[in-house]
Amino acid sequence: MILEAPSTLPKPDLESAAHSQKCADYIRVRIADAGGSISFAEYMQHALYAPGLGYYAAGAIKFGADGDFVTAPEVSPLFSYVVARQCAAVLAQLDGGDIIEFGAGSGRLAVDVLTKLDELGALPDHYRILEVSADLKERQEQLLRVECAAYLHRVEWIDAIPERHCGVIIANEVLDALPVERFVRRESVHQLRVGIKNDGFEILEGVAPPELVAAIAAIEADMGMRLPYGFVSEVSLAAPGWVADVIAGLQEGVALLFDYGVSRREYYAPDRSDGWLRCHFRHHAHNDALLLPGIQDITAWVDFTAIAEAAMTAGADILGYVNQAQFLMNGGLQDELKNMMQYPAERQIELSGQVKLLTLPAEMGENFKCLGISRGNISQPSAFAAADRTHTL
Ligand SMILES: C[S@@+](CC[C@H](N)C(=O)[O-])C[C@H]1O[C@@H](n2cnc3c(N)ncnc32)[C@H](O)[C@@H]1O
Repeated sequence: MILEAPSTLPKPDLESAAHSQKCADYIRVRIADAGGSISFAEYMQHALYAPGLGYYAAGAIKFGADGDFVTAPEVSPLFSYVVARQCAAVLAQLDGGDIIEFGAGSGRLAVDVLTKLDELGALPDHYRILEVSADLKERQEQLLRVECAAYLHRVEWIDAIPERHCGVIIANEVLDALPVERFVRRESVHQLRVGIKNDGFEILEGVAPPELVAAIAAIEADMGMRLPYGFVSEVSLAAPGWVADVIAGLQEGVALLFDYGVSRREYYAPDRSDGWLRCHFRHHAHNDALLLPGIQDITAWVDFTAIAEAAMTAGADILGYVNQAQFLMNGGLQDELKNMMQYPAERQIELSGQVKLLTLPAEMGENFKCLGISRGNISQPSAFAAADRTHTL
């Protein structure tokens, strides 16, 4: 039964369970229409984005203590303040420009970036948000109206990637939310598909379509080895196209892509034979994506080599690739910490705890990375000045 989560997972309340059942029913119809199975990528697309039913398309809280997971901007405003400092440096080089944020979640990063940019006297002409979830768009508007009324006239929500853009692009944890294909290496590459089993779903092996075969062939050629028999992993066929579209409109400026991820060599290392899928439900992480459709987050770590390749193919340059701790330390966290001294002791203690969460290697400091991409004559922002690992990609 789909809604019977393992005992380690909290039980969903009745309303959430009913919602998940509706989402599962929707997916079951798609599977039946497709003749008995759909690709894992299609399953993930429905479970996250089915209109009114998918995890991001419906009204679950998602972010923060009452949700399923926390992201860096939800952990602390200090993350966004450092991002703002980097934006200010780029906008100064361009003598102005706009910011576009993809997948703005609750709107927290937008609020804190704008607040800091105002403090620095470096507000962008426009702060544009491209968000695929109608529910989140509404929540972002509410938050910005309450906390950012003074700059609301600079903020606009857009439905398509602009054809021309000068300034900064920000995407925090968007790449990991794009649907991925799952595959298993046999004599040939098999696609992992999702079928119906009793009241729930099951994983099936099927013939891989040519685009998946080609993607694995390219990975194996780059790795200089054939992946081991039985090796299961993921590949995002969507991400390179998304990066190309995002970069296509960038006339001059920088894109900062944050996410948990590794280089291709680490992603497809032979000992990593069960892939990089991660699901989140009420702050419990596990890897069974077939559970709780519509009420749990499904993500996959990012192959940053693939993202860098897509950016370069689109004619952009790589500015740097650093872990989150390094991004923050290079990018102005110390100046923010100096500002902390003006706060009451309790707030200082709270912020110190947040800094640990953002920077310690066992927390978010190492697994999360920032890939900086640029187009035009842009000098490297300070966030990439030390411990750049671009050579590992
Ligand atoms: C894991 S959440 C991250 C939210 C936020 N950036 C944060 O850090 O808290 C993923 C976000 O990406 C959005 N998203 C997913 N696919 C997208 C796409 N193709 N374009 C723009 N946003 C997308 C989701 O709706 C959601 O807002």
